[in-house]
Amino acid sequence: MNSPHAGVDDTTTPQKCPFGGDGGVISLHGTAFADDPDAAYEIARGRGPITQVELAPGVQAWLVTSHTLALHVLQNPGVFAKDPRRWKAHREGRIPSDSPVLPMMEYRPNCLFADGMEHMRLRQAVTESLNKIDLDQLRRHVERSADYLIQRFSSRGTVDLLADYAKTLPLLVISQLFGAPVELGDRLIAGIAGIFDGIEAEKANKLLTDALIELVGLKRTHPGSDVTSWLLTHETKMTNEEAIHQLVTLMSAGTEPLRSLIASSLRLLISPDGEHGGTRLVDEALNEVLWRDPPIANYAPHYPVQDVQLGDVTVKEGEVVIISFAAANSDPSLVARSQMAGDRAHLAWGAGPHACPAKDPATLIALTAVETLLNRLPDIELAVPADELSWRPGPFHRALTALPATFTPIEPKPSAAPRPERQAPASAPAAGAPAQERRGLWSSFMNWWRGQ
Ligand code: HEM
Repeated sequence: MNSPHAGVDDTTTPQKCPFGGDGGVISLHGTAFADDPDAAYEIARGRGPITQVELAPGVQAWLVTSHTLALHVLQNPGVFAKDPRRWKAHREGRIPSDSPVLPMMEYRPNCLFADGMEHMRLRQAVTESLNKIDLDQLRRHVERSADYLIQRFSSRGTVDLLADYAKTLPLLVISQLFGAPVELGDRLIAGIAGIFDGIEAEKANKLLTDALIELVGLKRTHPGSDVTSWLLTHETKMTNEEAIHQLVTLMSAGTEPLRSLIASSLRLLISPDGEHGGTRLVDEALNEVLWRDPPIANYAPHYPVQDVQLGDVTVKEGEVVIISFAAANSDPSLVARSQMAGDRAHLAWGAGPHACPAKDPATLIALTAVETLLNRLPDIELAVPADELSWRPGPFHRALTALPATFTPIEPKPSAAPRPERQAPASAPAAGAPAQERRGLWSSFMNWWRGQ
């Protein structure tokens, strides 16, 4: 894939690998990887269908780059378990306790990290609750959320579409899907956003947990038409604690990749240069991102329950195997087969028993978010050349750091909602701040929607 490193014979000079960790092990952290992950995947592929990589300083893992082998691991839960308590290096205290990968890899009692019957039980509750989402209603809510965010910057003529749109829209949608009342939604949003931005992560974590405890308490007594209530009333009879763990997973699994899918798709559609501009349809752009820059690029940690031979290597029981969804998608042997496999062969949603249960609502949210923005601001375009955009370092995600754009300013769109009786704002505004910013995001949105 247009890699400057194409053809590098790294096997003869492993120490010179541009992604080199110790002894030529490919590093998936740092800016060299973020700047050109395809080059790293190409080198990895040259070493075989599975090779050793470094996820963070002191954290080694096996990375699967072959599409066939990826499916083999993802679809064999009897051999490849998901419960990270099997991770030997972690159990033996060999992983730095402050390692940045731990929040994504450490055990929590949720469906992502469960195996066998326990996974089936939790997954059933999650899937059946997500399946109850009314997709028409969801689309209308995404449009409203998009209109709200757009009117906040539409008179400026410039915007960072990542910070002011792609990041915030999933937060508004999640608050609605999970039935958060106004002030509680502000705290949920602040908690999730804080965790992902890594700012005062501990404080953010507490904010999110406290808000979820309150939300679960509220929905136990006053169930509504929302995912939280459906989870709590599901026949699996989850405890409050179980429900809170599933909610944290759903909310975090939902917001971060959604923001990347929205931003990366917009990047393709508003780029004036030849490759990306022109007449590409929105769903084509989304599909291209899922193939070429899947938001979850490398993840699905699995732990073999016994020593297992994969290609030329023996992976020992309790070692961690990571699936490179991105590398599997660009596997040259798949490209040859993809005419037959069609669009669905990509692995951006995972595969096997842990595949994303929210594929349909997530696709709808991203599609509607991108379409609404392009409809409201039809001449919007990138403010910098596409190759000057940068990507966030980290082994797991493919995420832009910013998406600056320019457009012809338009008057802010007033709320289209029928105006009900005026209600008092949810919280008293702080003196000095502009009215919209004084409240939390969710209450500001709700007030705009009510025409206040
Ligand atoms: C663009 C958006 C999204 C992408 C690319 C995506 C991708 C994925 C992938 C690759 C997995 C498999 C992870 C693994 O095997 O370890 C996964 C699992 C999961 N996703 Fe998504 N996802 C997205 C949005 C969402 C949303 C919106 C939600 C919920 C509201 C969600 C909830 C989940 C859950 C609960 C799992 C774990 C399922 C299990 O372990 O059985 N995802 N997702």
